[in-house]
Amino acid sequence: MRGRDLLSIADLSQEELSRVLETARALKDSGPRDLLAGKTLALLFEKPSLRTRVSFDVGMRQLGGDCIYVSPAEVGLGTREPVEDVARVMSRYVDCIAARTFAQETVEQLARWADVPVINALSEGEHPCQALADLLTILEHKGRLEGVSLAYIGDGNNVARSLCLAAGMMGMEFRIAAPEGYELDEKTVSRAGELARGSGGGIVCVREAKEAAAGADVVYTDVWASMGQEEEATQRREAFAGYQVNAKLMSLAAPEAIFMHDLPAHRGEEVSAEVIEGAQSVVFDQAENRLHAQKGALALILGEESG
Ligand code: CP
Ligand code: NVA
Repeated sequence: MRGRDLLSIADLSQEELSRVLETARALKDSGPRDLLAGKTLALLFEKPSLRTRVSFDVGMRQLGGDCIYVSPAEVGLGTREPVEDVARVMSRYVDCIAARTFAQETVEQLARWADVPVINALSEGEHPCQALADLLTILEHKGRLEGVSLAYIGDGNNVARSLCLAAGMMGMEFRIAAPEGYELDEKTVSRAGELARGSGGGIVCVREAKEAAAGADVVYTDVWASMGQEEEATQRREAFAGYQVNAKLMSLAAPEAIFMHDLPAHRGEEVSAEVIEGAQSVVFDQAENRLHAQKGALALILGEESG
């Protein structure tokens, strides 16, 4: 994986994804290790962030490296300066770029022009770093990934897309329930389906939340309006009524089911306060694992001995 971009979770093979998870677990156990001394990561963000920004920064420090954050106003990706120039300039200063962009095309364009690896820190297309942390969390709570059923309730967005592909790759059963017009795109479903055929997993798209949740080991949701969709919030609240993860929906899942959310969450919309604060919720383990999962990926992409 050394020197490679991570733009989509499907850029990794099943073996590579397993290796990131193993490395993440080892680094979580060992604590800080000087694997990336002298290396600098730049965070180029077009949108706000708490988890991604802080976990990448702390992660680089814990690995003996450095991190620099460049704010949306400073970057001016494609406005103050062409993306191609930003990529080539940054490549002269840093060893890796983690970019949070609106368009998937922007992060891909950065990767095309940069001489250093580019990591997608969330785009409209995908959120691969979130999927890494999600799998790590499921592995810790369920002891395995293969055969675990995950019900994703809500928008077929960036988080759903990466999770669906990752689940397909790792032999999980991914069931998504979305209202009409907000389903996962066919390309992702078909790619994830191919991956699932190879791993013994499955991808199922349904309309009703209760159909997806029935007997699930993991119930997952994300916001109804993502960053950049603020103007659609009212319309989306109407479309997603009936897709809230609440105690009634959780009661349909397996008795030991866990509740997951990538955060930030809107209590009273996609999840009830009772569920996110309840005993089945693992959302803060999940947020913590952003740090460990990204350290695993960084060690393999930037480390001298990663092969
Ligand atoms: N889950 C996640 O990516 O959070 P931030 O937007 O705060 O980084
Ligand atoms: N789907 C959300 C995820 C935030 C971490 C968004 O893109 O805003």
